[in-house]
Amino acid sequence: MSKSSRIPGFYKLSADERLDKVKEFADLTSEEIEIIKSMSGIELENATKMIENSIGGISVPIGIATNFIINQNEYLIPLATEEPSVIAACSNAAGLGRKKGGFTAKSMGNVMRTQIQLIKVKDLESAKNNIEKNKSELLELAQEKTPTLSSMGGGAKDLQLKELDTKRGKMLIVEIYIDCKDAMGANACNTVAESLASKIEQMSDAESLLKIVSNLATERIVEAHATFDKESLGGEQVVERILDASEFAHNDSYRAVTSNKGIMNGITSLAIATGQDIRAIESAAHAYASISGRYIPLTTWEKDTAGDLIGKIKIPMPVGIIGGASSVHPTSKICLKILNVNKASQLAEIITSVGLAQNLAAIRALVNEGIQEGHMKLHARNIAISAGASGELIEKVSEIMIKEKNVKFLRAKELIKKLEK
Ligand code: MEV
Repeated sequence: MSKSSRIPGFYKLSADERLDKVKEFADLTSEEIEIIKSMSGIELENATKMIENSIGGISVPIGIATNFIINQNEYLIPLATEEPSVIAACSNAAGLGRKKGGFTAKSMGNVMRTQIQLIKVKDLESAKNNIEKNKSELLELAQEKTPTLSSMGGGAKDLQLKELDTKRGKMLIVEIYIDCKDAMGANACNTVAESLASKIEQMSDAESLLKIVSNLATERIVEAHATFDKESLGGEQVVERILDASEFAHNDSYRAVTSNKGIMNGITSLAIATGQDIRAIESAAHAYASISGRYIPLTTWEKDTAGDLIGKIKIPMPVGIIGGASSVHPTSKICLKILNVNKASQLAEIITSVGLAQNLAAIRALVNEGIQEGHMKLHARNIAISAGASGELIEKVSEIMIKEKNVKFLRAKELIKKLEK
């Protein structure tokens, strides 16, 4: 029987029962189950190999978003987040997308650019000519510096020059384009920039200053789209309201930033779970959102001739599945196994689709009941727990507080006292 990510009542199961479902879906071993349940995955001894001065760790819960079909494959999505409602909302939106076949996503590839800044350039034209003339030698040298990537058909692919007229004088920027294949690639990019700099200095009769990857990954864009059936969304009126909400974001950067924050709720959570450099993903996303000179949403929403809603997202997605935490952190490795990914571009397509789902979930809630209602249940449970409730009392106390619309620590304390009697 083929696997399905639609698991009705998944949220009602105990954590152990949910793990059983995930174990079965992803063929996890009992050892992997123990690692993911441990809420940590790494020992302090190993942490000291990852960062300096390590003293411990902080855990973020991982939950599973269900219902995803992406490029015709079924996915259970592990999301690491501290924010209530994100996972429920994401699963819900993915469920709405299933009816029309789920998400279709396409990555344009894994090329990153690395930059070498040249200052004190004596003669710009001759510097440019000399570098251009020796382009293939430089690319070959770059290839030698990234033997693993090169052996896989990746590595340096092109070199371009860019002049900057700054208040500190003219600068020449050498940009080398590197196919990072299944790695995120920042290390390879930095290695290439640093190792080519002295040769380029000689060729240009200039001084090299910064040699570093650019995180504006415009050569690593992923596009995804999905159609959402209008009846499942709640009817024509809901579609119209979503279109109005989307127009608000497209015409006001204050709203666009919040809309994109909602997209990043999904993207960042999956990126954390799979051990990605989330700062790289976030900075690229927001820079890309303002690349036109105005900060705009990363998604667009329209309706088709049948009145169904079509969502599209376009975003840089610099992720990797080899190198970095993704291949050393035991929990990240398990999350990648749950996703059953074997290419960085596949992971990028999944993450992007999750972002689109998250955006729909947020806008749909906002144009209907608002988002507080969804948040309230978990919030009430948290308040009940922090006031000292345990076991069945957690549910009882939080239900009463929600009914009373009075979710407060002191009220929780009172209720615990009363119910304990
Ligand atoms: C909250 O974390 C995210 C939202 O603000 C996103 C949005 O407004 O679209 C609900």
